[in-house]
Amino acid sequence: MRIEVCPRFPLAQLPTPIEELKSLSRELGGPELLIKRDDQTGLALGGNKTRKLEFLLGQALEQGADTLVTAGAVQSNHCRQTAAAAARAGLCCELLLNGTKPELPNGNLLLDELLGARIHWVQPSKREAKLNEIPDQLRNEGSKPYIIPVGGSNGVGATGYVLAMMELAEQLNGMNRCVDHVVFASSSGGTQAGIVVGAKVTGFTGKLHGVSIDKDDSDGATYECELADIANETAKYIGFNAHFATQDFNVLYDYLGGGYGVVGDLECEVIRLLASREGIVFDPLLHRARDGSAG
Ligand SMILES: Cc1ncc(COP(=O)(O)O)c(C=O)c1O
Repeated sequence: MRIEVCPRFPLAQLPTPIEELKSLSRELGGPELLIKRDDQTGLALGGNKTRKLEFLLGQALEQGADTLVTAGAVQSNHCRQTAAAAARAGLCCELLLNGTKPELPNGNLLLDELLGARIHWVQPSKREAKLNEIPDQLRNEGSKPYIIPVGGSNGVGATGYVLAMMELAEQLNGMNRCVDHVVFASSSGGTQAGIVVGAKVTGFTGKLHGVSIDKDDSDGATYECELADIANETAKYIGFNAHFATQDFNVLYDYLGGGYGVVGDLECEVIRLLASREGIVFDPLLHRARDGSAG
């Protein structure tokens, strides 16, 4: 395996801490709960995309790129962290956001602007075409764009979560603890694919549960196929000899609530519980709009 020599641009505060959620666990009547604070990766308010961006930026810089181009929802966490990563690396950033420009930017959109990104508004149905068109324009103007897929979810980006599993294994070992289940959000797939590859790399034996935040299970195993593709791409990128198939991915589709980005009663309850029992503030998503794309 050659993960150590994959090009990487440091962006994250690592390792992220592991904390025990004793009060919450007591409140719920068990089981023991631990949280790995990947909200504290540190790049412009942190989040899971920072780990992926370390490897994506590594490749972009190695290729001599001067501009990052990516796409997402209006309040995309991925776009906000990409804009911050570009600023940190001295690159330009072009973001394709779904919909039309609101009168007053708030939340991540406000941060995208502060971080210096240039924003293009697109209808989701035209996004893929635009994601090719804008880099072509940039090339014609003499720039060297590097395109990052939605959510940073390809084999390069998911490598960040292989490393996260290696980090987790080392931390648990140091704490003399083991965990039976790892639960995480799943949307564009890079996090889950990287975690599943990382589990195989480290020999992790607990169960892995990706909670879908924007898809139901009406599409057959389409999402699991995408996950397997990203995982196989990741294994190839890091030189790990393994093959992944749809049955390697456990996706929970029953927690969609009102849909992507919709803060309903259950979400409010979780935010309140975590805040009041543990002093941990979950992202409340400062909007209620459903604009149909992964963050
Ligand atoms: C905070 C957070 N966690 C997890 C995810 C899911 O990660 P992925 O897109 O890699 O599946 C997202 C993306 O929507 C996110 O914003």
